[in-house]
Amino acid sequence: MFETAGRMESLPFSEIRVMMERATQMQKQGVDVIHMEIGRPDFDTPAIIKEAAYESLKKGNVFYTSNYGTPELRRAIAEKLRRDNGIDYSPEEILVTIGVGEGTYAAVAAFLSAGDEVLVPDPVWLNYIHVPEFFGAVPVSYSLKEENNYQMDADEIESLITDKTKMLVINTPSNPTGGVQSRETLEKIARLVEKHNLIVVSDEIYEKLTYGGVKHVSFASLPGMKERTITLNGFSKCYSMTGWRLGYAAAPVACIKAMVRVHQYINTCASSFVQEAGITALEKGESAVQEMVAEYERRRDYAVDAINAIDGLSCKKPDGAFYIFVNVRSLGMTSAEAANYFLEEAHIATVPGSAFGPQGEGFIRISYACSYERIVEGMERLKKAVEKRQASR
Ligand SMILES: Cc1ncc(COP(=O)(O)O)c(C=O)c1O
Repeated sequence: MFETAGRMESLPFSEIRVMMERATQMQKQGVDVIHMEIGRPDFDTPAIIKEAAYESLKKGNVFYTSNYGTPELRRAIAEKLRRDNGIDYSPEEILVTIGVGEGTYAAVAAFLSAGDEVLVPDPVWLNYIHVPEFFGAVPVSYSLKEENNYQMDADEIESLITDKTKMLVINTPSNPTGGVQSRETLEKIARLVEKHNLIVVSDEIYEKLTYGGVKHVSFASLPGMKERTITLNGFSKCYSMTGWRLGYAAAPVACIKAMVRVHQYINTCASSFVQEAGITALEKGESAVQEMVAEYERRRDYAVDAINAIDGLSCKKPDGAFYIFVNVRSLGMTSAEAANYFLEEAHIATVPGSAFGPQGEGFIRISYACSYERIVEGMERLKKAVEKRQASR
C-alpha cells in the first residue's frame, strides 16, 4: 500500500537517533546512562528571549508573516552580520528559515540538479549527504583529517573538482570534529572557489562557540566571496534554542529569491512570535551566550585532558562547537563497536564517528553539552571501560 518513492532510498534514519533511542531504552529500564551523544545544549533558553516570545504572543503576534521573514528580524540579522561577521548584507539579502536544517534543504533544492556534484566534508553533518542525494545530486567527500587538525586541504579539494562540480559545503566550527577553519585555510579555498566558479554553502551554526581566543571567520567576509556564498546560520546552538526552529540564509538577492520559492511551499514562514524573540536574542542575548561559552570551555578543557590521560584514547583539543572527536583506534575495535561497548559497559552514549562518513571510522564523537558533573562521572567510567578492554586483549 505505502510503497515509498524511489528517492526515499537515499533517506535512512540517522545513526545518531538510533544511538539516542538505544540509550533512552536502557534508561527506561533503570540504567543511569550519561548522554554524550546529543548535539543539543543542556541550558535553558536565556530568560530574556523567552520573555520576548511571551510578550509577542500577548500582543497577538499570531499570524503569518512575509515568506521572507519579518522586516524587523531581517534588519536585525543584517545588523548582526555586519557587527559580528564583518559582512554588509541588506535585509533583502536575508531569508528567515526554520533552522539551518531548512536552509540546507532550500539551498540544495534551489541550486542542485540531478547529476550535479557537491563537495562536502567527511566527516560531516549528514544532511549534506542525504539532502543532495534526495535531489539526485552527487555528494563528493573531501577529507577532514586529525593529523591536519581537521583543516580543509585545498589541493585535495581541487583534485576532486570536475566539470559537474557546482557547490562546495563548508562547516566551521565543525560538527562532528569541533575543528575551526583558519583564515589562511579559507583564503586558499576562496581562490579555488573563484577559479572554478563554485557556489559555497557556509554553515556557521556554531560560530559563537569558539574557545581559547580562536576567532570564527565567515567565508562571505573574504574578498569577492559574498557574491558566491550562501551563509547559513541559526539560533539553535549558540542561544540554546533548538526547539524554537529559527535560522536564516544570507546571500545575494537573486539567490534568496530562488530559495524563498522552495521555502514558501514547505513552511510559508517561520513562527511569528519566534521571529520576534529572535530579534531580542540578536540584540540582547550576547552576555547569556558568553556565559554558556565559558561553561563549554571549562567542560572541554576538563574532558580533553581526561581523555588524553586514558591509555588507549586520544583527541585533539577542539577549538569550537561542543564536540570532541576521540580517536579509539588503539582499542582494536571499529567505531561502532567502541560506541556499543561504551554504552553497554560504561553506560555512556556516544556516536560512532563512522556515522558521519568514512573518515570518521576509528573515532567516536562525544558531546560536552551535558553538565560538568556528568562529564566528570563520564570520564571516570570511560577510563574504567578502556582499562577493562585493554586488560582483556
Ligand atoms: C552543522 C550543523 N548544521 C545545522 C544543524 C541544525 O541546525 P538547526 O537546528 O538550525 O536546523 C546542526 C545540528 O546538529 C549541525 O550540526
